[in-house]
Amino acid sequence: MEKRVYNFSPGPAVLPMPVLEEAQRDLLCLPGAGASILEISHRSKTFDKIINGAEANLRKLLGIPENYRVLFLQGGALLQFGMIAMNLLRGAKSADYVVTGTWSKKASEEAKTQGAIRLVWDGKPTNFNRVPKQNELSFDSGAAYAYLCSNETIQGVQYPAVPDTGSVPLVCDSSSDFLSRPVPVEKFGLLYACAQKNAGPAGVTIVIIRDDLVARSPSDVPSLLNYKLLAEAKSLLNTPPTFGIYIVKLVTDWLLNEIGGLEKMAEQNRRKAKILYDVIDGSDGFYQGHAEPGCRSIMNVPFRLRNPASDEPFLKQAASQGLCELKGHRSVGGCRASIYNAMPVEGVQLLANFMQEFRDKNK
Ligand SMILES: Cc1ncc(COP(=O)(O)O)c(C=O)c1O
Repeated sequence: MEKRVYNFSPGPAVLPMPVLEEAQRDLLCLPGAGASILEISHRSKTFDKIINGAEANLRKLLGIPENYRVLFLQGGALLQFGMIAMNLLRGAKSADYVVTGTWSKKASEEAKTQGAIRLVWDGKPTNFNRVPKQNELSFDSGAAYAYLCSNETIQGVQYPAVPDTGSVPLVCDSSSDFLSRPVPVEKFGLLYACAQKNAGPAGVTIVIIRDDLVARSPSDVPSLLNYKLLAEAKSLLNTPPTFGIYIVKLVTDWLLNEIGGLEKMAEQNRRKAKILYDVIDGSDGFYQGHAEPGCRSIMNVPFRLRNPASDEPFLKQAASQGLCELKGHRSVGGCRASIYNAMPVEGVQLLANFMQEFRDKNK
């Protein structure tokens, strides 16, 4: 096998080694099935066990209450931007959106195709470097829902706690911090995440939705976009992304059995993030973080070098040491280290050492 690098990609992203090894081991023949996961029916007993197992693991990890459905859907997180509005906004007065970066902005634009929205807060004036405080948020009690993105992958801003939306159902894009820390699911009406950061490969999106919101889906929404019909069919209206769901099962097994749950995972994630933010803060401005300290993401760490001309040598030298995919998004510039669950502490420590050495040689 070629040597694996430390992959700091924002997604699709690094997966846990034991998951890749198990998938590799069982790729030709799933134990007891006589065929591979890529070849069996989604209506088979074997697949039934896999999808039910993935759901049970998610329920256990997140403490998902009984009155929530767990759906495994296709179309990525972006499809949810529109689907949420199709199911919950159509026919309603309006929905409240909190815009803290690229992804919540895009979600608000998609929602506008289905109905009226109200911007509750917009982080654009400060270039999306923070999330609002509770006292900056005022929700419309008549809104169909209040929408936010718990972790903006590009800007690296994350809510330290779940905002209180009162009686308005909270809808949250948790794509890039799903399963990275415990979450009070009961505070959400709908919580969703594409899998390709912390939960599995691209191709499956997990939607956790409360029963009263499921019941709201209008009957003229086509079946594959209709939460009610998808929930009734337990995500099996048509062929679901079987391989993706299988990997979600393995990743959640890993979180439960090897990591020991989300509190343990969060501890490790906070430790990794601190290693990088300490280097940034201790660099006398050589490295500059994008997010304000109170809302720095523990998953995505965007930073700029004081001299943008150093970006290229930084990225090149990092890659030569096996520290890869560190280029920042064009809208923020500079660099970004995505340090999802499966990035080992040792990878982050190597990056921190490299950053210190690079600074010492170039300051
Ligand atoms: C927070 C967030 N929301 C939505 C998306 C879009 O996800 P997808 O490509 O699965 O549609 C991303 C992708 O990076 C993301 O980070």
